[in-house]
Amino acid sequence: MEIEDVDEVVPIAATSILNPWSRDMLLGEVAHPFSHCFLICREEEDVPLGFICFRNVGEESELLNICIDPMHQKKGLGKRLMEFYIDFCCQKGVKKYYLEVNPQNIPAFRLYQSFAYQEAGKRKNFYQGKYDALLMER
Ligand SMILES: CC(C)(COP(=O)(O)OP(=O)(O)OC[C@H]1O[C@@H](n2cnc3c(N)ncnc32)[C@H](O)[C@@H]1OP(=O)(O)O)[C@@H](O)C(=O)NCCC(=O)NCCS
Repeated sequence: MEIEDVDEVVPIAATSILNPWSRDMLLGEVAHPFSHCFLICREEEDVPLGFICFRNVGEESELLNICIDPMHQKKGLGKRLMEFYIDFCCQKGVKKYYLEVNPQNIPAFRLYQSFAYQEAGKRKNFYQGKYDALLMER
């Protein structure tokens, strides 16, 4: 994802009820020195269908967001982005993976479980200062 892609990604990011990212958050992440942001696109048209953002420092990676356009969910695209993410990080020498997820977010929780992430603790009042986050690691 480049800065010029962000306007097309904003509507997708906004659909995530439990973890919506604003335009400014996307721009900040694309510009961040430790961050990597990638799109998954419709092949023939280059239209973004989803994105993933993560930060890597040394042998550790934190997954910050993964989001698929609701019209294209449950078609294996989230899985493909996660496969890409793990493969990319393996090649960079990442050994430890972290993320936070809202425990009510069953699709995301199951996706991470299917990539061997395990529950590793809780962050109190992580979302909007009131909802706990589940910390997962792999
Ligand atoms: C989480 C998300 C990225 C999954 O993307 P997706 O393309 O729909 O997922 P896939 O079709 O690739 O499914 C892969 C696996 O995820 C899990 N999964 C996906 N949707 C699910 C659902 N509705 N219920 C339960 N498990 C689900 C399953 O384990 C699934 O594997 P299976 O099909 O073999 O059962 C998508 O639901 C999304 O964008 N949600 C909104 C944004 C969000 O909450 N992101 C997480 C921020 S922490």
